[in-house]
Amino acid sequence: MSIRSYKRITPTIDSSVYVDDSSVLVGDIEIGEQSSIWPLVAARGDVNVIRIGQRTNVQDGSVLHVTRKSANQPEGFPLIIGDDVTVGHKCMLHGCTLGNRILVGMGAIIMDGAVVQDDVFIAAGALVPPNKVLESGFLYVGNPAIKKRPLKESEQAFLKQSALNYVKLGAEYLEEQA
Ligand SMILES: CC(C)(COP(=O)(O)OP(=O)(O)OC[C@H]1O[C@@H](n2cnc3c(N)ncnc32)[C@H](O)[C@@H]1OP(=O)(O)O)[C@@H](O)C(=O)NCCC(=O)NCCS
Repeated sequence: MSIRSYKRITPTIDSSVYVDDSSVLVGDIEIGEQSSIWPLVAARGDVNVIRIGQRTNVQDGSVLHVTRKSANQPEGFPLIIGDDVTVGHKCMLHGCTLGNRILVGMGAIIMDGAVVQDDVFIAAGALVPPNKVLESGFLYVGNPAIKKRPLKESEQAFLKQSALNYVKLGAEYLEEQA
């Protein structure tokens, strides 16, 4: 079973979401309309919550996790992902907050407390350190991720287009399953 309860909380997943059978989703997770979860994604909403918005795709081999509440960090670090976000292959998203229309390049790592504002492009292989804020409208590159340049108009448009491509692909996969 790829969708599992933890402490009696089962992921809440809209019926329009495609979830590949090989992915594993555990515990307090919510996923909004037309999002998609691709092969070998591991998402564990056990010691805190994971929230994924609408039309967001999490691609193959990505890992999503959270940090528990503690004396130093009363809310811990939940993982919040907005709408129209593309999470590329083999990304690690840990206890961070992502806005809307973001592309997380393949293999990128985003750590606890980091905040990615709307309309950001994160290059493949970038590492976003704890608590860093990535500003809206920019490309971030490297380890540690630095602000490289403002997004071109074509890149800005691609953020939305990439999400829409995956809405279509997810719907096709759902149809195959029917
Ligand atoms: C960063 C990226 C957007 C290209 O940006 P760009 O400004 O067009 O980059 P260019 O190809 O003009 O290269 C500019 C420089 O950055 C380097 N570069 C390109 N991608 C890089 C990356 N991911 N990390 C570090 N450096 C990178 C290039 O080697 C080049 O270096 P040079 O000037 O020393 O030759 C692209 O390479 C990338 O990472 N895309 C992510 C794709 C992805 O993961 N999609 C999700 C999967 S579906």
